[in-house]
Amino acid sequence: FWLLGLVGLAAYMLGSVPFGVVVARVMGLGDLRAIGSGNIGATNVMRTGNKLAGALTLALDAGKGAVAALIAWVAIGEDAAQAAALAAFLGHLYPVYLGFKGGKGVATFIGTAFALAWPVALAICAIWAVVFKLSRYSSLSALIASALSPALALAFGHGSMAALFAALTLMIFYKHSGNIRRFLAGTEPKFERKRP
Ligand code: G3P
Repeated sequence: FWLLGLVGLAAYMLGSVPFGVVVARVMGLGDLRAIGSGNIGATNVMRTGNKLAGALTLALDAGKGAVAALIAWVAIGEDAAQAAALAAFLGHLYPVYLGFKGGKGVATFIGTAFALAWPVALAICAIWAVVFKLSRYSSLSALIASALSPALALAFGHGSMAALFAALTLMIFYKHSGNIRRFLAGTEPKFERKRP
């Protein structure tokens, strides 16, 4: 049991690493929290016009979720992998390194989904991409794709993940309350990239 606690703590610490902030700083883009929406995620890094930085942020924020879940799975088992996924996700949302003011969890959610049930993760990515192509709203794409994830888990025979995906989706919605309010007011901005 102490091993589970240790894995959970390590997953939280790993999830806490705000790769968007780190990548933006290292690549000379400035303080991400003063750019665009001020969010620490890949979408906001993309807004700077630096696609490599955006892609790196996406890969690293997703990767930390995947690595946390995979290590827990190999070391202990599936239940521990779910717990580690949750812990890493909470780390991204409430990072100890940023005074607990973190991101919206979309990339980290997708990363954990790849580790826990990769066909579901692929479907989430496909839905995100289709909605984004049609709407140009990153937030809307994330909301729709995540909301479908519990049903996708059931449909792809990963029913044991459905409850976790539902819980993560609720937190993603909660973290997007500002975006949702703007949608209702008709003021959510479409995705726009600064011309490099
Ligand atoms: O992944 C976050 C995205 O869904 C919304 O980000 O910066 O447009 O609020 P942002």
